[in-house]
Formats: sequence, C-alpha cells, structure tokens
Amino acid sequence: MTSANLDRDYLWHPFTQMQDWNDSKHTPIVIVEGRGAVLLAEDGRKYLDGNSSIWTNLHGHRRPEIDQAIRDQLDRIAHSSFLGLTNDVAPRLARELVEITGLRGAKVFLSDDGSTAMEAALKMVHQARIQRGETKRKVFVSLASGYHGDTVGAMSAGHSPLFHAAYKPLLFETREVMSPACYRCPHNRAEPVRGTDARKSRQCDWECIGELTTALDELGETASAFVLESRVQGAAGMTMHPHGYLEKAANACRERGIWLVLDEVMTGFGRTGAMFAFQHEKLTPEIIALAKGLSGGYLPVAATLASREIFDAFLGDHGELKTFFHGHSYTGNALGCAAALASLKIFETENTLGKNVLLKEALAKYAAKFWDHPHVGDVRQEGLICAIEIVRDFQTRQSFPFAERIGHRICEAARKHGLLTRPVGDVLILMPPYCVTENQIAQMVDALRLGLHEVLPV
Ligand SMILES: Cc1ncc(COP(=O)(O)O)c(C=O)c1O
Repeated sequence: MTSANLDRDYLWHPFTQMQDWNDSKHTPIVIVEGRGAVLLAEDGRKYLDGNSSIWTNLHGHRRPEIDQAIRDQLDRIAHSSFLGLTNDVAPRLARELVEITGLRGAKVFLSDDGSTAMEAALKMVHQARIQRGETKRKVFVSLASGYHGDTVGAMSAGHSPLFHAAYKPLLFETREVMSPACYRCPHNRAEPVRGTDARKSRQCDWECIGELTTALDELGETASAFVLESRVQGAAGMTMHPHGYLEKAANACRERGIWLVLDEVMTGFGRTGAMFAFQHEKLTPEIIALAKGLSGGYLPVAATLASREIFDAFLGDHGELKTFFHGHSYTGNALGCAAALASLKIFETENTLGKNVLLKEALAKYAAKFWDHPHVGDVRQEGLICAIEIVRDFQTRQSFPFAERIGHRICEAARKHGLLTRPVGDVLILMPPYCVTENQIAQMVDALRLGLHEVLPV
C-alpha cells in the first residue's frame, strides 16, 4: 500500500475539501525528507519550501544544531509533566523569551500551538479582569479578517467569515473594528499604482485609528483588551498594516486602560525583520502569543507571555480560587523546549537578523518581477514575507470569483516547476526559511511566475 493510498484511506486533512483530496486523479505529494530550504518527495522529486512549511520553519530543515539539541534531550528524557513539576529546559527558554521580547517581569505560560497560545491569552485576560474587580471589562476588540486559530475562543476573537461562519452560534461576542489593510481600505483615496506597495501610495487620514478609538470610547469601561496580529494578518491574505498603526493603537489602548494582546504566532522570530513585529515600533503589550517558529519549526511548542500586572491578578490563597485553571498535557515539553533554545541560539551565532536584511532585499528585487503581469494588483512585503495579490481588474482591485480558485490553481501549477507554497485565496505567498540562498529565491519567484502565466496567460 503506498503512503498516498493509506493517506486517502485513513486521514482527514486540515482546511481541505476531502472530496477533492480523495479524487483519484489527485495524487498527493508525499514528503519524506528535507534539508535546508528543500523538501524531498517519495517519488524522488525535489521542491523548494516556499512557505516555510506553513510559516513555521526558520533556519531550514535538518539544522544540525537543532537536530543535535533534540537528540541530546532525547538521550535524557522526552517529556515529563509540568503539573506540580518542572524540568531543566523550560525555565531557560522562558528566561530567553522574556529577554528577547523585552517584556520585563512577564511570566511565560507554555502550550502547544498558536491556537492554544491565543486561547490561554483570552482566558487569562478574562479571568484577570474579574479577579482585579474590573468585572465590567468583558469585551474583546479585534480586527476584521483577523485569525488567531481554530479553538472556540481564538475563533471568537477572529473575524474570518469563510472559516468561522459555521461555528457562529458557538462563539462569544467580540467587537470587530476595521483592519488597517491599505490595499483594500475603503478610506484609501489613492488610485492603485503599479510597482508600489499600496501602503506607500495611500492617501488617508488614519481613519482606521479613528474607527478604533471610536469603538473603544463607545465601549468605555466594558472594553477589556484589543487583540491583533502585529503588522501582518496572515490568514487574511498577508494583509499588511501601515507603519505606525500599531503604536497609535497601543497608545489609544493605554490611555483608556485597555490591554493589548499581540498575536505574533506568525510574525515572531525574525519574520518581519525585527525579532518580533511589534518591536519595529514603540510600545509594550500586556500579552504576546508565540508559536510556529518558536521551535524553529520543529515541534509544537507555544508560549503566552503575560505582564506582571496580569500574572499578579492570579495570586492568592488556595481557597480564593484565583488559580489559572487551564493547561495541556504536553506543556513544557522538554524536546520542544530544547529545540526552541537551539533555534534561538542560532540567531546569536549566525546573526540571523543581520543576514535576513540581505535576503529581504533579494526577495524584494526578484518579487518586483511580478508587476509585469496585468493581473497582479499588489506586491507587498515585510521582511521575509512577500504577498502577491491577484485581481481580475487592476484599476478597480476587483477579485476573481471565489469558485475560480485562481490562487490555488497558480500554486498547483508552480509545483510542476519545483515550488511548494499555499495561497490564501488569491494571494500568493513567498515566505522562505532563513537559510534560503539568493539563487533559491530567484527560483521560487520564477516557478510562481510560470504558474501565474500558465493559469492567466497574457
Ligand atoms: C496569526 C496566527 N495566530 C494563530 C494561529 C494558529 O496557530 P496554530 O495553527 O498553530 O494553532 C495562526 C495559524 O496560522 C496564525 O497565523
């Protein structure tokens, strides 16, 4: 029995229409090995990992330092409970995370993935408000098209009609405010300019901040926290915020006693050029959620960093029931923490952030080639995240009908040219691991452009 047939017989894949998947004409690619930015399939074909294995991998596959750290840890122990016990790796990781985020006095709550990091964040905020006597502060404010994961709380803070519609009756109410995504912002009066990121040519009066402050003022004492992805909203289609938005939003929250919860699950660990996206601006969040790249993309490890103020709200005598009654069996997993520590060490030994500046420039140089296609509406980039938005009409920014699956078809076509990446709708994404070479970036761009020209010939 081949792996592909076994898969079809027994598995159910995330975000996948299994009727298409199980269609006998569709043979899944079976990944069996990886090295650096290259993935090897069972049939011997090689592919460039164009989205860092769904935005997780940092330094490449089979990084010797991370492999070794996991082996060394495995020689001692893989996992032991974090309930009533600790281990000798998680505390070191927690100290590193507090240091590199600059969140002095923060405490680190470990879990497994992005959704659990966000779920913990929301529950912490809710409970802390009650235990501080701020019982009216119950409302979370969050961005349109925001995505924070698939657990019920994370979905409630998210606003993705496509992903969340079926679960609406299960979700708690949150206040949605407009996303500061300049390309499709109704307040952006600028005409589209070919060759320019829409954020640079935008003409507006920061109506996004106006709408946020109006919402916060309307909510008054009932607003608890503003929840958002820092600078780049991944599942919204890699929409990117104008520089300065986050700082302005943070100030608006601070002035009103509203906490800031930053989802850096995708943007964390150097993706946008700074170690964390919020560090491009001047602000201090109360909570940061981390996952994906935390372990270098090796193992499911996540962290929710909470300010001292929030942590202190949980302290009290046992009988006061102020405990954070929340946790997961694999919290503090030693293998994952060892991988994370090894990944963080590479940032220091290799000056990863410094090196990424050059890669970012190379990505920008090659990605500029997309502009020669008339159906490219926007090419936007933050660090090593590049998004190419395909539109039916450049001038009106009108999209293709959803059912045409243009983005999906382009990425399928790019596979034939040796590139694996996954679009969000009609937004194509290039997000290479940090070990990528300039030559590999050029190959990724070429493969995606070939796919684009095959699906939408000029
Ligand atoms: C910004 C953001 N938050 C949270 C999540 C959820 O993370 P996970 O898939 O690890 O649960 C994602 C996943 O893509 C994400 O992009």
